[in-house]
Amino acid sequence: MPERFPVSLQQKIEDRLRYYEDLGIRLFYTDRGPGLVGHEPVASAPSPTHVIEEIALPKPTPKPAPLKPTPVAAYPPLVVAPTGPSLFETMDKVKDDTLLNIREDLGDCTRCKLHKGRNKIVFGDGNPKAQLVFVGEGPGADEDAQGLPFVGRAGKLLTQMIEAMGLQRSDVYICNVVKCRPPENRAPEPEEVAACSPFLMRQIDSIQPKVIVCLGATAAKTILNTTRGISQFRGEWLEWRGHKLMATYHPAYLLRNPPAKADVWKDLQKVMAELGLQLPRKSKS
Ligand code: URA
Repeated sequence: MPERFPVSLQQKIEDRLRYYEDLGIRLFYTDRGPGLVGHEPVASAPSPTHVIEEIALPKPTPKPAPLKPTPVAAYPPLVVAPTGPSLFETMDKVKDDTLLNIREDLGDCTRCKLHKGRNKIVFGDGNPKAQLVFVGEGPGADEDAQGLPFVGRAGKLLTQMIEAMGLQRSDVYICNVVKCRPPENRAPEPEEVAACSPFLMRQIDSIQPKVIVCLGATAAKTILNTTRGISQFRGEWLEWRGHKLMATYHPAYLLRNPPAKADVWKDLQKVMAELGLQLPRKSKS
């Protein structure tokens, strides 16, 4: 932080940045260059330290009120009363939904019992305009402690997989079906999925990725609304609400069953081809 600001203002800026970080917003730009808007990979994005230098001075506004859960469905209601907004205006609101709005609506969520055991809500992380979204099941202990998805052992493997695709974590968006850690890392229960998944759907609708990769059965079954086992459709291209969707094995499964990494790598190469990323050269032999 430059020293030209008074200490009290510096503190306010730091508080505000911490607040944004809690919301999962970690990059700030005063002016978005052409490479950073739209659906371009952001491999050339400036590093966060560089970006911090570019932050516009926030007005010294009072601290935001603590986030409260809104007792409403995750989507804004469709108002059809003649005096209310027209259906098209309402759809515009849905269309213009942002990750910030969605995080604010989630608030300090108590919609299911998972809130009782959580330390931090794990909302999601990455590029809000990503072409590629990874969806996991739910936070584990490391994610619950840090408030970030896929930062434990399985997360390190996911990061390696993303880098093997020629991308960085900051190019993609990573989130989970449930935003709070299930106890003992059990699978989330149907009521927990039902309470949380509308926020996942809104995240996807806001990002509008070209490709969604479901990591494991919980993500695939939730998004596709199916009870079919993942092995019946793993590695196949599916179409879901205008997005290409691929289900593959969860990195935690790969830690227990390393030979399955080859299947996942085949799946990810299909994703790379779809996104126009350079495929690794086949070795001769
Ligand atoms: N497993 C998940 O499904 N999500 C995480 O964020 C971490 C581990």
